[in-house]
Amino acid sequence: MLSSQTNDTEKRDSLHGHWSSRMAFVLAVTGSAVGLGNIWKFPYVVGQNGGGAFVLVYLACVAIIGLPVMMAEILMGRRGRRNPIATMALLGAEEGKSQNWRWVGSMGVLAGVLILSFYSVIGGWTLSYVFKSASGMFANATAAEITSIRDGFTGSWTTVALYHTLFMTLTIFVVARGVERGLEQAVRLMVPALLLLMLVLLGYSISSGYFSEGLSFLFTPDFDKLTWDTVLAAMGQAFFTLSIGMGAVMAYGAYLPKETSIIGASATVAAADTMIAILAGLVIFPLVFANGLDPADGPGLVFITLPIAFGHMQGGVFFATVFFVLLSFAAWTSAISLMEPAVAWIVEKFNRTRAQAAVMIGLLIWAAGFGTALSFNVLSDFKFWRGTIFDNLDYLTINIMLPLGGVLIVIFAGWVMCRNATSDELGSSGAIYKLWRFLSRYVAPVGILFVFLKAIGLLPDLS
Ligand code: PHE
Repeated sequence: MLSSQTNDTEKRDSLHGHWSSRMAFVLAVTGSAVGLGNIWKFPYVVGQNGGGAFVLVYLACVAIIGLPVMMAEILMGRRGRRNPIATMALLGAEEGKSQNWRWVGSMGVLAGVLILSFYSVIGGWTLSYVFKSASGMFANATAAEITSIRDGFTGSWTTVALYHTLFMTLTIFVVARGVERGLEQAVRLMVPALLLLMLVLLGYSISSGYFSEGLSFLFTPDFDKLTWDTVLAAMGQAFFTLSIGMGAVMAYGAYLPKETSIIGASATVAAADTMIAILAGLVIFPLVFANGLDPADGPGLVFITLPIAFGHMQGGVFFATVFFVLLSFAAWTSAISLMEPAVAWIVEKFNRTRAQAAVMIGLLIWAAGFGTALSFNVLSDFKFWRGTIFDNLDYLTINIMLPLGGVLIVIFAGWVMCRNATSDELGSSGAIYKLWRFLSRYVAPVGILFVFLKAIGLLPDLS
């Protein structure tokens, strides 16, 4: 029985083709992970949540929850070789358990659609800064001037919608062409180039005279600033930045050749992703303090700090343009992966071509994006629950749907799948495998659920 099951999983193949090499897979997952989450979102949530203590919780979440979830997603994807919904149904059935696990996949598909609806608006914002940078309008501009440029952009809903449309068009275009073509080359160039430019910015930020203020804001934990809602935000950020909890990495795992080491690939991606986020923090906070800005300014923070830095730098017009091109690329490669679960599902389930599926889902996401595009202008006073439409989408997806998806995914990999299946995929039964299994069965589920229940006030305080 067991050997026939093993043969079966070996013969199983993905409809959508394969990554050409281990490197291609690592690059694709890195392309998914590195994006607006690192450079746009990370600095501003750190700023809103008081700095060091938040960063510490975030790092702990990446290491002890994020990594095991990522490994679980990839191994499930590769074993199922289907879209996340079908993969969870299949693997559940294979273990003689309920096919209802597919609803975890469905929630992931929905989360991807909702996240991309706001992600694309911010991606468009980034694109518009390519043109602003190239025009030289940031050269020697003061903080006040740059703030008013930003407010001018976000205040005009037509401009925001236009760039959102442009970003979504680019995304649909790549997704329609297929998983691998184009993506691999783009990421191979983008990640090192982005890293290099961040180092140039770091040089400037060190010279700003406020580097130590930035450093201590990022790394000196003040635990008085931690509430359970802050801890939940840090955990959500860990999920968001690693692209986990919604099946993007699971979908990519379905195209992974059997020989590739899942453990090695996951560790590489998580390390690169974390490094870029920390680097972004090191660049941005000294600039915040040097210019008397508010760290809790919110989603527009990078769109003020970095133009100020570039505006005062030798060759700033050039560097700024290149930087926003790279950031747009990074956002683009993440956006592609946000769509992949939905597209793979439509292709497999409804027998559509990739191009048809990409256009259908893409149009839906584009339309939903207006909720966010209008949150910064026409509907900025329309507030409920967490704030504007954007604030609600952001909270619902990043703080609720991703951790919830993540907890169900590790419970599935740790409790529903049998030991043979998971150790076969992870290619190990030694110490690292045991550690993964322990984290997946106990630490991650208990940790996620505990933070959740605390944050929504369902667990009483002991003190
Ligand atoms: N990880 C991406 C980023 O940091 C966002 C993302 C989340 C992509 C979930 C795919 C899935 O920008």
